Amino acid sequence: MLVLGAAGGVGLSAVEIGKAMGARVIGAVSSEEKAQAVRDAGADDVLIYPRGPFDKDGQKALSQQFKDAVGPNGADVIYDAVGGDYCEPALRSIAWEGRYLVIGFPAGIPKLPLNLTLLKSCDVRGVFWGAFAARDPQHNAANIAALFAMWKAGKIQPKVTEIFAFEQGGEAIARLGDRKAIGKLVVRIAD
Ligand SMILES: NC(=O)c1ccc[n+]([C@@H]2O[C@H](COP(=O)([O-])OP(=O)(O)OC[C@H]3O[C@@H](n4cnc5c(N)ncnc54)[C@H](OP(=O)(O)O)[C@@H]3O)[C@@H](O)[C@H]2O)c1
Repeated sequence: MLVLGAAGGVGLSAVEIGKAMGARVIGAVSSEEKAQAVRDAGADDVLIYPRGPFDKDGQKALSQQFKDAVGPNGADVIYDAVGGDYCEPALRSIAWEGRYLVIGFPAGIPKLPLNLTLLKSCDVRGVFWGAFAARDPQHNAANIAALFAMWKAGKIQPKVTEIFAFEQGGEAIARLGDRKAIGKLVVRIAD
């Protein structure tokens, strides 16, 4: 399982849950500090990618970096919480019949050449938790119960790395925009 933006709010959770479910997890991030957070969360391997945007050569180099990290069989699951210029190079490292999970687009909304999905016979699956929870509350409740069981068993430990007072909420948002946040940031609405 390859996780893009692996030190971010949802990325770090994906790393932990992937490990708890028995996957070999490779986290992809943009700095050594983030790489350490992803290793601490249990990732088997971490790669540090450059910051985009990328030209054609940059995308080729990034694709090679993903392929080297996931190995010759490719990634069975790619969890993409980043999008933008990272998407196509990541998809090129997917396994035959792999699943590409579309989570979010902090780097921009990408476009994909569909021939890549044919060549790998892979799925590209949008994952929209809020809409899923509203449409299928029973399934969502079962998933939440499974997550609490993992937490109780010590298999996952959600990371809140910074807590901000309500008045400092803008600083929290700026840290997300500057790619500086690790794990979840919390803004307190009241004491
Ligand atoms: N589908 C769903 O149900 C669902 C649920 C929750 C959140 N989301 C979405 O998922 C995305 C990630 O959420 P999050 O809470 O994990 O956010 P986050 O903590 O800010 O993580 C996003 C990661 O994206 C990477 N990134 C690459 N380019 C970036 C840029 N230009 N600006 C900011 N970050 C950039 C950063 O990692 P590197 O620096 O390591 O590249 C960052 O850690 C958001 O778009 C959010 O709306 C979707």
